[in-house]
Amino acid sequence: MKRILPFANDLLEKAVKPGDIAVDATIGNGYDTVFLAGLVGENGRVYGFDVQEEAIASSKKRLTQQGLSERVTIFHGGHENLSTLIPADDHGKITGAIFNLGYLPGSDKTIVTRPETTIAATKQLLEMMAPEGIIILVIYHGHKGGVEERDSLLGYCQQIDQHTAHVLQYQFINQQNHPAFIIAIEKI
Ligand SMILES: C[S@@+](CC[C@H](N)C(=O)[O-])C[C@H]1O[C@@H](n2cnc3c(N)ncnc32)[C@H](O)[C@@H]1O
Repeated sequence: MKRILPFANDLLEKAVKPGDIAVDATIGNGYDTVFLAGLVGENGRVYGFDVQEEAIASSKKRLTQQGLSERVTIFHGGHENLSTLIPADDHGKITGAIFNLGYLPGSDKTIVTRPETTIAATKQLLEMMAPEGIIILVIYHGHKGGVEERDSLLGYCQQIDQHTAHVLQYQFINQQNHPAFIIAIEKI
C-alpha cells in the first residue's frame, strides 16, 4: 500500500500536467514546490506561500539549485490571502494544490498552520480550481493545536456538497503516535 506522501504525490501527478497552474500553500523547505515545479514544466507556474522568512529563503535556494526558479512565484504571506495574491487570469486554471500542515521541521514549533486560515484558504482554492483539480491536505496532529486543526478540517470537509467535490480521507488506522493522514478534495 502506498504510504501517505507517495500517495499524495501520485494524486498530484495525475492531476497536474505540463503548462498547468499549481499551488504549494505551505512551502516550508520547498520539497513539494520542487515536485510541483517539475510537473507544471517550463510553461506552467507554481504559486507558493509561507509566513516564515526562513522557509522562503530555504525554498528559493532549493529551486535555484535545481534550475526551477523561473516557473515559481513565491509569496511571503499567508495562504488565507491566496485569492487576492494569485493573478485573476490564473483563477479557474489551478489543477493541483497541496497543504502540508503543522510546523516547519527543525524550526520554531510555535509557528504552525491554524484551522481558521487553513479553512479560509481551502475555500478560496475550491472556487479557483479547474474542474477535476485536486487539493491535498496532509494533516499532522501530534503537535500543540494539531488536534483542533484536524477536527475543524474534518468538520469542514465532511460538509462540502457532494455535487461540488469528491472528498477522500486516506489514513492508516493502526499506527501509533498520531500518524499523518490525507484529505483530498477533487473539484467536480
Ligand atoms: C509542515 S511545514 C511545510 C513543509 C513543506 N511542504 C516542505 O516540503 O518542506 C508547514 C509550513 O506552513 C507554514 N505556514 C504556517 N501558517 C501559514 C499560513 N497561514 N500561510 C502559509 N504558510 C503557513 C509554516 O511557516 C511552515 O513552513
